[in-house]
Amino acid sequence: MTAAATATETATLSVSGRTLALPVVTGTEREKALDIARLRTATGYITLDPGFGNTGACASGITFLDGERGILRYRGFPIESLAESATFTETAYLLIYGNLPSRRELEQFSTRLAERAALPDGMERFFDLFPKTAHPMAVLSAMVTILSTYSPALLNPYPAREEMDEAILTLLAKVPTLAAYGYRRAQGLPVVPPRRDLSYTANYLQMIFGAPSPDPAIVQALRQILILHADHEQNCSTSTVRLVGSSRANAFSSVAAGVSALWGPLHGGANQAVIEMLETIQRDGGDYKKFVAMAKDKASTFRLMGFGHRVYKNFDPRSRIIKKACDQVLGTLGVQDPLLDIAKHLEEAALKDDYFITRKLYPNVDFYSGIILRAIGIPTNGFTVTFALGRLPGWLAHWKEMLESPGMRIGRPRQVYVGPAERPYVPLSQRG
Ligand code: SDX
Repeated sequence: MTAAATATETATLSVSGRTLALPVVTGTEREKALDIARLRTATGYITLDPGFGNTGACASGITFLDGERGILRYRGFPIESLAESATFTETAYLLIYGNLPSRRELEQFSTRLAERAALPDGMERFFDLFPKTAHPMAVLSAMVTILSTYSPALLNPYPAREEMDEAILTLLAKVPTLAAYGYRRAQGLPVVPPRRDLSYTANYLQMIFGAPSPDPAIVQALRQILILHADHEQNCSTSTVRLVGSSRANAFSSVAAGVSALWGPLHGGANQAVIEMLETIQRDGGDYKKFVAMAKDKASTFRLMGFGHRVYKNFDPRSRIIKKACDQVLGTLGVQDPLLDIAKHLEEAALKDDYFITRKLYPNVDFYSGIILRAIGIPTNGFTVTFALGRLPGWLAHWKEMLESPGMRIGRPRQVYVGPAERPYVPLSQRG
């Protein structure tokens, strides 16, 4: 399934006394973009857009976001309906193959994943080479790369459809096992092998906690969390997966790079940073107003973690769903978490504060997700691994879409050079 945008009108650019007709492409939801593919050839100019806030890297048919209206849809299906009714495996299939699977397609996909969940013989040894204090995201990224050494047939730079599908199935099936084994070995516990009789989400939980039949309420909570994290168009880690994949490196190295990008506290690492922030506020006597003031103080590097978003300037629809689920999940599990009250007070204070209002800073997906992950029993430094597990189908869908796009090229941005002009070499003897 390829994604292409077609020119619907033209815009005129006047620069250095010349005018250039730029094609304008229009997306499904009427978004418009200037196609500047010929800009440098025609004018000698490039564009400059640090952080790519105004720059579209590609046309994609996978996920639609509307930051002003708080809309998130996977292949046209609203996130609210998928979080309510879909399974994570169904959502993964939808993102990767473009449509909701039939019963038979879903059964076949689930079976193929279950058949591939075990690790290759001998690979488990690597877990014991990491320091027990290693961050789980470092372990996960490393183990995904190590997995590629056991899959030589899936590293073809120009994979056939079957090879692409097999790489996707292998990663989707084995990454939960890698994540769970990493957790168990770091705790000094024996690994719990994957089972074929459980759903994808339940299987992950039993590999982590060793419970033969995970609590259905916990399975439901994690199902929703994984679905809400499954894709988010051209975010930092997905753009990383695309950029690495654009050199025709394989799916394993692209996903390993995506894990590393997600680790950062400004991105997926925020869910861990939110809980650490709430624990700091709790230790500090719960004075959340002091921390709101710190977040506004330009002299401080402190930011209200879990707040703000490059795209959502009204509300993050995922945060609304997770906040609602917090009360339900904690109630069902009989968990009282004082951090939830602190989070709610923090949100209330920030949403009334002009600093946050004028900058359109609202809770994002990471603000409440850690509360649920804590209630499930996942350790704080394992939150971002869970985010990676959720985002994996999105990364794979974008990798596949990019490879299937006609005229796919290696990503290689330009720059504006602001360093020294040409100058002669000075021999060491003359440099004092
Ligand atoms: C995710 O892209 C995606 O889709 C990501 C994601 C996904 O699903 O893939 O949604 C997941 O990564 C969510 C974001 C998680 N990160 C955090 O919660 C970290 C805290 N938030 C920020 O650091 C920040 O809001 C970002 C990184 C999310 C967005 O950064 P931008 O778009 O580059 O915004 P910015 O840094 O330019 O901030 C604009 C202004 C600045 O103030 P001024 O210079 O205008 O005075 O807002 C301020 C910032 O200082 N600001 C904050 C703030 N976030 C922005 N001030 C205090 N606390 C914050 N959290």
